[in-house]
Amino acid sequence: MASSSSSLPMPLLVAFLLLAASLVVAKPSAGPLNITAILVNATRHRTFARLLRETQVDLQVDKELGEDDTGNTFTVLAPSDAAFLGLRSGALNSLAQQDQVELVLYHLLPHYYSLPMFVTASNPVRTQASGNHGTYTLNITTDSDMRVNVSTGVVRTPIAGSLFDDGEKLAVYTLEKVLLPYDLFGPRSPASSPPTGKAPSAQSAADVAPAAGENRAAAAWLRGGWKNLMTAFVALAIAINCFASIN
Ligand SMILES: *[C@@H]1O[C@H](CO)[C@@H](O)[C@H](O)[C@H]1NC(C)=O
Ligand SMILES: *[C@@H]1O[C@H](CO)[C@@H](O)[C@H](O)[C@H]1NC(C)=O
Ligand SMILES: *[C@@H]1O[C@H](CO)[C@@H](O)[C@H](O)[C@H]1NC(C)=O
Ligand SMILES: *[C@@H]1O[C@H](CO)[C@@H](O)[C@H](O)[C@H]1NC(C)=O
Repeated sequence: MASSSSSLPMPLLVAFLLLAASLVVAKPSAGPLNITAILVNATRHRTFARLLRETQVDLQVDKELGEDDTGNTFTVLAPSDAAFLGLRSGALNSLAQQDQVELVLYHLLPHYYSLPMFVTASNPVRTQASGNHGTYTLNITTDSDMRVNVSTGVVRTPIAGSLFDDGEKLAVYTLEKVLLPYDLFGPRSPASSPPTGKAPSAQSAADVAPAAGENRAAAAWLRGGWKNLMTAFVALAIAINCFASIN
């Protein structure tokens, strides 16, 4: 009765906080999977992290990974910052907004592959960009040493390392090249001919897509954007509250 939590010895309190902090850092998979956090943590993948955020693809991935009932799993092939620097200058900016979304979605496979599981991939492999507007597939080859090559028909590059693998839902690998889709960068693709019209940048990708006859599947996939943003804000508010009450 006489002793209260306010008289908790300082060293014990500090130890407790340190323990709590170390648990948060050591077990990322205990919380919700956060693709942005994983990529930012990887430090060499800021450009790809930014593209995921700008296209709101990150919110959609985290949402689908967070919903246990969907059973959705992903493999992310994340180009390094050096890979983006290696692109022909203007290669990204010359793409219409919707095509930039396709490019990002092209680096996501709607299936979890651990490194050994790539042997089971059957070519051509569908990506998150595969849909009405184009095939957006890629080919995956492996050898007995578990080396994996990814080929788009324009670019071929090995998987250079593993950034994250929770063993069931999400694997993130690093590439030293950006995967340029054949649909966009092949010989007779839109990006290799003069642009006919640019998607209005003020509109969201979801609004532009059906009118422009773009990939509806990807647009539908992105449509949850605002709802997810609200959820993230609420989560942030709750987190701030928790912190405030601890201190
Ligand atoms: C995911 O991580 C990023 C970067 O650390 C952070 O800005 C964002 O709020 C996180 N999202 C969620 C839903 O926790
Ligand atoms: C961030 O990096 C640290 C150290 O490499 C690692 O232990 C931790 O699991 C990483 N967090 C995420 C969210 O990937
Ligand atoms: C990957 O590509 C390199 C060169 O492009 C080639 O030498 C190697 O045999 C390929 N490996 C696999 C597993 O396809
Ligand atoms: C991908 O694999 C399919 C099926 O094996 C093949 O028909 C196609 O030519 C390959 N494409 C590339 C770019 O390697």
